[in-house]
Amino acid sequence: MKDDTKKGKRLGLGTAQYGMDYGISNRRGQNSLDEVKQILDEAKTLGIEMLDTSPNYGNSEEVLGKCLIKEKHFHIVTKTPVFDKNIITQKSGDILTEYFESSLEQLGCNTLYGLLVHHAENLLAPGGVYLAKSLLELKSRGLATKIGVSIYNSTQIDAILNIFEPDIIQLPINLFDQRLINSGHLTKLKKQNIEIHARSIFLQGLLLMEQEKLPKFFEPIKTNIGEYFVFLKENDISPQTAALNFVKNIEEIDYIILGVNSVDHLKENVAAFEKELNIDFTKFSISDEKIINPAMWELS
Ligand SMILES: NC(=O)c1ccc[n+]([C@@H]2O[C@H](COP(=O)([O-])OP(=O)(O)OC[C@H]3O[C@@H](n4cnc5c(N)ncnc54)[C@H](OP(=O)(O)O)[C@@H]3O)[C@@H](O)[C@H]2O)c1
Repeated sequence: MKDDTKKGKRLGLGTAQYGMDYGISNRRGQNSLDEVKQILDEAKTLGIEMLDTSPNYGNSEEVLGKCLIKEKHFHIVTKTPVFDKNIITQKSGDILTEYFESSLEQLGCNTLYGLLVHHAENLLAPGGVYLAKSLLELKSRGLATKIGVSIYNSTQIDAILNIFEPDIIQLPINLFDQRLINSGHLTKLKKQNIEIHARSIFLQGLLLMEQEKLPKFFEPIKTNIGEYFVFLKENDISPQTAALNFVKNIEEIDYIILGVNSVDHLKENVAAFEKELNIDFTKFSISDEKIINPAMWELS
């Protein structure tokens, strides 16, 4: 029987850093196999079930497969390969299926919890219907329980909902990036019974970074970040507690995916997640997409 009282039930682990160097604040680089095993063991103890991976995260799927032999505890969500959006054909649909079969093999699983289109633009491009067809076929064969899309903005959500019925949407949301709350898209998705997986909770670690270490690119928001950290200090709140409480209090979110590359950070985050805060963080939202979309960061 599942233990619903476990603390981490609503949390999920991102796995990009298991297969590649990932995260703006990550100084340790890619995790070793041993470190991944330790993180997954601890995650299981804490009741975390959801894992987010992708064939695009270096050898992350292979690493997970090695760590999860005979381990049936986790629900795994993987993604499609990224296609050139100018040439999506029947062949792309076949490639999607081949990649998914390879993901199953790498992960040592017969079925997976979810399969998401990694770049929503691929589904929206001419020929995107071939990808949708392959996704639906994998679902009807029982190989992927749920299918969906990872998105970056509300325009993509609207466009996707016009052509496809996703079971899951993975989206970015954090204390600085409150766009999808303000636009009403979270509510809209929930009304349609779509499972919401939130990522970028720490904005790749930016929300936890010591100010002196901020890359030059963030100079334009140095004052905003400074005020935010002063607020946390005055209220005796750790940045982890603030970032996690912000998303925890958004009831539309089903799973909160976060990236950690050490057991210590995992434990620290779950403890922070458990704390109850009742603070309105609205005033800390930042609207400049160049800042809140990591894909637009120019870091040397
Ligand atoms: N398009 C997509 O589908 C897409 C895009 C981006 C991300 N993702 C998924 O989301 C996952 C998470 O990525 P994200 O961008 O959302 O990352 P995030 O969770 O916002 O931030 C991760 C960063 O925060 C740092 N961190 C975490 N806990 C910490 C703590 N207690 N103290 C200090 N630093 C801490 C991590 O460093 P430590 O590792 O040192 O703990 C890591 O560098 C990825 O692994 C991937 O699975 C998907």
